[in-house]
Amino acid sequence: MSQRTLITGAQVVFPEGIRAANVLVEGHQILAIDPPSTARVDETVNAKGLHLIPGVIDDQVHFREPGFEHKEDLHTGSLACAKGGVTTFLEMPNTNPATVTIEALHDKLERAASKCVVNFGFYIGATAENVDVLQQAKRTPGIKIFIGSSTGNLLVDSQAALERIFAETTLPICAHCEDESTVRANRERIGSNPSLADHSKIRDHAAALIATQRAVDLAIRYKHRFHVLHVSTAQEVEFLRGRPDWVTAEACPHHLFFQIEDYDRLGSQVQMNPSIKTAADNVALWEGLRSGVIEVIATDHAPHTLEEKAQAYPKSPSGLPAVENSLALMLDASYRGLCTLEQVVAWMCAAPARVWDIKNKGAIREGFDADLVLVDLAKRQTIRNEEQLTKSQWSPWHGVELTGWPVRTWVRGQTVFQNGKVDSDVRGAEAEYQR
Ligand code: DOR
Repeated sequence: MSQRTLITGAQVVFPEGIRAANVLVEGHQILAIDPPSTARVDETVNAKGLHLIPGVIDDQVHFREPGFEHKEDLHTGSLACAKGGVTTFLEMPNTNPATVTIEALHDKLERAASKCVVNFGFYIGATAENVDVLQQAKRTPGIKIFIGSSTGNLLVDSQAALERIFAETTLPICAHCEDESTVRANRERIGSNPSLADHSKIRDHAAALIATQRAVDLAIRYKHRFHVLHVSTAQEVEFLRGRPDWVTAEACPHHLFFQIEDYDRLGSQVQMNPSIKTAADNVALWEGLRSGVIEVIATDHAPHTLEEKAQAYPKSPSGLPAVENSLALMLDASYRGLCTLEQVVAWMCAAPARVWDIKNKGAIREGFDADLVLVDLAKRQTIRNEEQLTKSQWSPWHGVELTGWPVRTWVRGQTVFQNGKVDSDVRGAEAEYQR
């Protein structure tokens, strides 16, 4: 008989709203909401004063295995997830080897099954030559295209290759949208000695907008499901306002919270692709989220070591770790009145499950997986580099105090994070897709 746990006394965030409810978990599933008092219960968790939310699904992380395990690996990335209330991650293909073959995809799935404490999925990467692979791939949320180059060499910017991918494949597509020729022209204009602040002039507003327009044009012409990753500009938000419903978009915490002025304070720690932009862009992204133009929040967790980041620009690599603080950052945003708790859950849990057709996740519902997070909206805690579980051991938010933190995480009914500690023996499962 499977173990039954009753989580009692919490305010539960349902798709319909927040209310007090008891949630009965059996094995890996949510068995019942408000079960009868006669129901068998093996363990009771008193969650009075706390809120219960579905586990966060982060649809954009880079966990660096195989190939760059000195920065992160699937185990350490998953530990950081568990601590941060992320119960499912979808990982990007710019590893070494890149995930551009069925063998590489299955290799990652096997590695993850043996070492990840949360649930997992892996995108299949597009190249100019692998349409046949993109057509065959099954155990994946979708296809990732780097329409602009970033870390790694997975660039597809020829129009003919892009047309083929949109025309001849059926899996949903997501893309990194920064226009390569605009980036190159900006780089040449700025000259051979760029400084860090030039990063946002090289990867400027136009580069982001042009690539997003180009990709959305393809998605519309081929009526192909398409997700714009990490929107970073007010102009893209305006452009996306008229998108059809098969085009979705996402924002990342660093584009919501950081601005170009932060290069002075944080240096290359906030060097990202797409680059961070202005305060006006932060405001526009928030408005885009609130008005539903942008539906998803994901981190683009992209760890590099502090030594790598300390190299002089442009040798310093782009990317920052965020997966263990993203939920707290958003809970703190709701504490500060920037959004509501229901919106945080909609953007971080429900929307990614919907965008990627993930089965039985993203909501607290009978029959769904018991991927659950208890959050304490009053808990104040300061982010500290030395406490980070990401192998890179730093955060651009080091020293920042946030109000609202995950305090307990369940992955498929198993407690994986509690009392500040992650249980590294728990194992998550491969995400399943409803299609
Ligand atoms: O800044 C970034 N770093 N953006 C990306 O899209 C890739 C990432 C990485 O893998 O380092």
